[in-house]
Amino acid sequence: MTSLREGNTPVVKREDYAAPAFLVDSVDLCFDLDPAKTRVLNKMRLRRNPAVAAQPLRLDGEDLNLARVLVNGEGSSFKLEGKQLVLEKLPEGEEPFELEIFTTCAPAKNSKLMGLYVSQGTFFTQCEAEGFRRITYFLDRPDVMASYQVTLRADKAAYPVLLSNGNLVEQGDLDDGRHYARWVDPHKKPCYLFALVAGQLVAREQRIRSRSGGEHLLQVYVRPGDLDKTEHAMNSLMASIAWDEARFGLPLDLERFMIVATSDFNMGAMENKGLNIFNTKYVLANPATATDADYAGIESVVGHEYFHNWTGNRVTCRDWFQLSLKEGLTVFRDQEFSMDMAGSVSARAVKRIEDVRVLRSAQFPEDAGPMAHPVRPDQYAEINNFYTVTIYEKGSEVVRMQQTLVGREGFARGMKLYFERHDGQAVTCDDFAQAIADANPDSELARLLPQFKRWYSQAGTPRLHASGYFDAEARRYTLTLGQSCPATPGQPSKKAFVIPVALGLLDAQGREIEGSARTVVLSETSQTVVFEGIDAAPVPSILRGFSAPVILEHDSSDAELLTLLAHDSDPFNRWEAGQRLALRRALAAVQSADAVHQPLDAAYLDAMRAILRAPELDAAFKELVLTLPGEGYIAEQLDEVDPQRIHAVREAMREQLAHALQEDWIQAFEAHQDNGAFRPDPVSSGRRALAGLALNMLCLAARENGNPVWPGKALQRFKDAGNMTDRVNALSALVGSGSALAQPALERFHALFKGEELVLDKWFALQAGAPDRGGNILPLVKQLMQHPDFHLRNPNRARSLIFSYCNANPGAFHRVDAAGYRFWSERVLEIDAFNPQVAARLARALDRWKKLAEPYRSAAREAIARVAAKADLSNDVREVVTRALAD
Ligand code: TRP
Ligand code: ZN
Repeated sequence: MTSLREGNTPVVKREDYAAPAFLVDSVDLCFDLDPAKTRVLNKMRLRRNPAVAAQPLRLDGEDLNLARVLVNGEGSSFKLEGKQLVLEKLPEGEEPFELEIFTTCAPAKNSKLMGLYVSQGTFFTQCEAEGFRRITYFLDRPDVMASYQVTLRADKAAYPVLLSNGNLVEQGDLDDGRHYARWVDPHKKPCYLFALVAGQLVAREQRIRSRSGGEHLLQVYVRPGDLDKTEHAMNSLMASIAWDEARFGLPLDLERFMIVATSDFNMGAMENKGLNIFNTKYVLANPATATDADYAGIESVVGHEYFHNWTGNRVTCRDWFQLSLKEGLTVFRDQEFSMDMAGSVSARAVKRIEDVRVLRSAQFPEDAGPMAHPVRPDQYAEINNFYTVTIYEKGSEVVRMQQTLVGREGFARGMKLYFERHDGQAVTCDDFAQAIADANPDSELARLLPQFKRWYSQAGTPRLHASGYFDAEARRYTLTLGQSCPATPGQPSKKAFVIPVALGLLDAQGREIEGSARTVVLSETSQTVVFEGIDAAPVPSILRGFSAPVILEHDSSDAELLTLLAHDSDPFNRWEAGQRLALRRALAAVQSADAVHQPLDAAYLDAMRAILRAPELDAAFKELVLTLPGEGYIAEQLDEVDPQRIHAVREAMREQLAHALQEDWIQAFEAHQDNGAFRPDPVSSGRRALAGLALNMLCLAARENGNPVWPGKALQRFKDAGNMTDRVNALSALVGSGSALAQPALERFHALFKGEELVLDKWFALQAGAPDRGGNILPLVKQLMQHPDFHLRNPNRARSLIFSYCNANPGAFHRVDAAGYRFWSERVLEIDAFNPQVAARLARALDRWKKLAEPYRSAAREAIARVAAKADLSNDVREVVTRALAD
C-alpha cells in the first residue's frame, strides 16, 4: 500500500488496497528457542498470484537479523528496503517455488510484547495485527492464508511444554538436554493467528464430546501453582462451545483447543487458531482472589476468543480496515452468549445495561473527539491504535441492529449463508452485511442495505430527536422522530442513517397501551408515527433496549420519567429514566453559579427509595438504578467541562443519596448477606453488588456525622469476607469515604495477598482511583510508583496504577496546578520508549482536552504539545497526539 505522510507519520489508506502479488501455500517454521538469540528457519512455498501483474516480492520484517535467503535451495540476490526484504529475481511463471529464510531475534529484549517475547521465563507470541514480521520475513497481511507446520526446539528442563497451533504430531529428545515438538495446523490461516508457547506450565484438562459427536481435548495452561484458579475458565470454554453449536450451528473444528495464560500481555486475549493466549486477568479466578466482575469478564473473554474461531479465523479480514468484521461481530456474539447464560429477563437486561454503559462512557466520547473514526476506517498511521471501542463496541451495535432488522432467526439464517459463501476466505464488512440481507430478502435490511451501510462509513454518534403531540379530540398521538449527526474529523456532513427505534406507549398510570409497541425504522431525516384511538396523553418509551447506538433527545418531563422509572415494561428504559433524572439534576447543579449544595430533590430521592424497596426487582437491577451517571458521562453532555465542579456535584449527590436513604441502605445491606458457598451467578452477584453499594453509602453517610459504627462494620466485613467481592467492596467503602480505618485495611490487604499479582493490581487501582481530597491522590500515585511491587513494564500493573489515575479518576487528574498533566506526559514518554502500544492508550487520556474549561484547557494543550515535541516518538503515540492537536 502507498505511504502518504501526515505530520511525519506514513498513512495507510483503505482505497489503496491491492491483492497480494504472491500467495503462500505452506510455511514450515523451525525455532531454536533461546531468550537471548532465537533462530528461526522459515521454509515457504510461494506462487505468483495469477490475478496480479508480475512484480518483486516484498516481505515485511522488523527487528530481525537476517542470515540467509535461498530460492529453490540456492543463494539469491535480495535487497533490504526500509523494513522490507525485496526479491526481484524469482522464477517466472505460475509454478510454486521454495523460499528459505533464516533469521534470529532476541525475545528477552522484546519489551513491546509484539512478536516473540519472554514473560517470567516462558516464551509467548502475539502476532495480531503486525507482530509476525517480528518473528520472520513474511507477507504480513491477513488476506495471505497458508498451511503451517512448526517445529519447536528448546532446553527440556527450562521449557518442558512446547505448544503451537493445531495437532501435536511428533515429539522427542535431542542432544544436550534439549527436546523438540512438531505441530501441524490442519486449517489454513493468516499469519496473525500464528502462535507458540514454550515454558514451565501445567494444564487443567477436559475431554468433551460435542453435539455432533466429535471428541475434543480442552486444556487451560497456567503457571504451576495457579491450577486452582482455572475451573471457571474451563467451564466458560465448555459453555462457549455448547452455545455456538446450539445458537449458530457452529462446531469446534479442532481435536485440541488450548488456552494459555500470561501475566505480560498488551490486551485482554488473542484468538490464535487452537492456541488462544490470554492475559491472566481473563483466566485466573477463585473466590478468594477474584470478584464477580472478574468472573463475568472471564466468561465473556473466553467466549469472545472461542467465537473468533469461526468469526475471524475460518472467515477472516481482507485487510485491517475490515477489523470490525471480526471484532464487532465477535463482541456481538460474546454479548449474546453472556445474556443467554444470564437466563432471566432481568439478568439479561442487567447485561445489556452494562454493555450500553461501556458504549456511552467510552465509545461516544471517542466518536466525538479527535480519534473519531468509522466502524470501517478509511485510513490509519498505526493499526494498533484502531483496536478501539468504536471497532469493537459500536461495531457490535451495528451487527445487533442487523439482527433487529431481520429478526433473531433471520440473523441465524444470514450467518449460515455468510459461512456457506465465505468459509476459508478473507472478506470485507460489505460481504457480511450482504449475506445477512440476502438471507432475508423481504426484510427492511435488504430494502435499505446501501443506506444501512452508512453505519460502517460515517463516524460520529447520531442524535435521535423525538417529540410527541397528543390530539385529544381526534384521540390521536403523533410522534415525530428526526435525526442528525455532528461533523467528525474529515467528515463535515453526514447522510441519514437507518435507525431501528423500538418504542411503546404507557398510559398515565404506567400501563402499556395495547398494540402500541413496535420497532420503527427511521431512514429519513424526519418521520412521523401515528397512534390512533388514544384516550389520554400517553408517556412514550423510546429506544427500548437501546435499539440503536444514538443519543436520544427528547424533552420528557420529570413526571414522565418518573412514570417510566416506576412502570415501563422495558427494563432498559426503566433504568434509563432514572439515569436521565439524575443527569438532569447533575447538569443543573454543574451549570448553576451557586456553590454546590444538595443537588437532589425529594421527588428523585423518593423514587430511588421506592426502587430500593421494590420487592419485585432484582438486586442487580437496583444497584444499577442507584448508581449515578459517571463523571465522564456527565462531562460529555457539556460544551465546557470543569472536571472539579463535576466531581464536586457528583460527590454531593452521592452524599445526599447516602443520607436520605440511610434506613433503606441499612435494610439493603442486611437483607443481602449470603454466607453459603460462593457462586458467581447473576442472582448472587447482584446481591453482593447491592450490599456493596449499601455499605459504601453507609460509610459515606458516616463520614460527616463521624459515627464510627459503619466504618467499623466495613472493617469487620473486610476482615471476615468469604470472597474477594465482599472484601474489595468493604475496602473500597473505607477508602472511598476517607475513613481512618482505610490505611490499616490497605496494609492488611497487601500482606494477605503478597504473591497474588492480580490482587495486587486491585490494590494499586483502588488507591489510584480513590476520591481526591485536597490533592492527595497524585502524590500517592507517585509514591506507589516507588513501591517494590510496582513494575512499569508489566502492562496490567501500569494500567492498575497509572491508567486508574489518568483515565479513570478525573477529579484527581485534572488539577488546577497542571501536575496531573505533567505526570501524564512524563509517563507517556517513559512507556513509549519500551511499549508504544500501551503508551498510545495512555496518550488518549487527554483526547477531550478541547472541551475543558480554563485553566485546564491551556495546561492540557501544553502537556500534549510536550509529548508531540519529542523527537523519536513511536508511530503509535505520534498518531494520537497529532490528531489531538489538529483543528
Ligand atoms: N484479536 C484480539 C481480540 O480478541 C485483540 C488483540 C489481542 C490484540 N492482543 C492484541 C490486538 C495485540 C492488537 C495487539 O480482541
Ligand atoms: Zn476479538
